[in-house]
Amino acid sequence: MKHRVFATLGLLAACSAAMAQVPADGAALFAAHCQACHQPGAVGAPGIAPPLVGNIGRHAASEEGRRYLMRVALTGMVGSITVDGVRYTGNMPSFAAAMSDAELAAVLRHILGSYERVADLGWLTPEQLAAARQAGGTPNETHKMRGRLPAGG
Ligand code: HEC
Repeated sequence: MKHRVFATLGLLAACSAAMAQVPADGAALFAAHCQACHQPGAVGAPGIAPPLVGNIGRHAASEEGRRYLMRVALTGMVGSITVDGVRYTGNMPSFAAAMSDAELAAVLRHILGSYERVADLGWLTPEQLAAARQAGGTPNETHKMRGRLPAGG
């Protein structure tokens, strides 16, 4: 009897959590959308995709870098880049259609906060993602933007 009461309470809690629009889970989104290429922990794999850990956190320090990080996820990117002396020439897919502004903000917050230990993530909001989405851009332009970043490419 006692068990059944607890089970019912658990079910009620799960239902109300689902109805209360739980914020998007960045870790789960990373596992579902990014990990196949960028690997668990975002350590990257030569010939597939660059590491994000130990790499992209530096861009969070500048206005241009922040815009770049939001834009890569939205437009994707083509053209080769070099990270830690390794050259990558793959295609970063666009996630503009597959993910909402809130989901994109959550997955970037997860990567920058959990893997890169960036402390200030106040700028990384669904509203900012919406603005970046509005600004648009092509994968090729995003690649050029990377080359112009203050933290270097
Ligand atoms: C199909 C493989 C693939 C998937 C899936 C993928 N990426 Fe990428 N990603 C790449 C490749 C390849 C590059 C490098 C592109 C280039 O060389 O221009 C890249 C580059 C990046 C960069 C820029 C790194 C830098 O050094 O500037 C970021 C940020 C990034 N990806 C984030 C993500 C996020 C976030 C997701 C999931 C939402 C994701 N990627 C999913 C393959 C992938």
